[in-house]
Amino acid sequence: MAGDIDRAGVAKAYGRWAPIYDLVFGKVFDSGRQSTIIEADRIGGRILDVGVGTGLSLVDYARTTKICGVDISEPMLRKAHERVRTHNLTNVETLAVMDAKNLAFPDNHFDAVVAQYVITAVPDPEATLDDFIRVLKPGGELILVNHIGAESGPRKVFELAFAPLARRLGWRPEFPWKRLADWATVHGGITLAERRPMPPMGHFSLIRYIKS
Ligand SMILES: C[S@@+](CC[C@H](N)C(=O)[O-])C[C@H]1O[C@@H](n2cnc3c(N)ncnc32)[C@H](O)[C@@H]1O
Repeated sequence: MAGDIDRAGVAKAYGRWAPIYDLVFGKVFDSGRQSTIIEADRIGGRILDVGVGTGLSLVDYARTTKICGVDISEPMLRKAHERVRTHNLTNVETLAVMDAKNLAFPDNHFDAVVAQYVITAVPDPEATLDDFIRVLKPGGELILVNHIGAESGPRKVFELAFAPLARRLGWRPEFPWKRLADWATVHGGITLAERRPMPPMGHFSLIRYIKS
């Protein structure tokens, strides 16, 4: 899509965010992060945390949950590595630079895939979601937390006006629920288990899909 975000631009944007990311987005996104971690720990086993960023989530998973974290931004991942060392997170098995759309993992490999504030930051959300489902075991869960764009009203107008700046900052703010619903219908073999409003102001959602 013309004027849409691209992979190199996103990697560059998060390279710039890395030194201040925790300060700016640590607290504001924490409630969504914690809720996805509770869901992932309920499943346990081996979890893929895609777009793990600076690894803010890593310290909060149960130490019995094995974690693989991937991200497109090396500077963000460097922070995640530091966090793993500082907190001696022996349950973190892998941290790797990887594109969320081309995951270097076998089919049916993970008990859950977690993506916190990521699907609106990738250039091709549908193909990326396809790869999340590919690496999930049957019965496994895809657990997302993300901003979902307004369907109408002043918030939609604001989101459309803010979109060009947001793309330069590394995400698209106008991502509507319909896009996710259409993806799920086209993909098939998955069931929406939950859509839960999340702060700030319920503009975010925790979304869980179960793979058949
Ligand atoms: C808004 S941050 C969220 C970071 C972390 N999950 C959190 O809760 O704070 C989005 C993350 O997705 C990563 N990302 C964006 N596009 C990606 C892609 N195509 N593949 C892998 N990671 C990507 C960015 O580098 C960034 O670390």
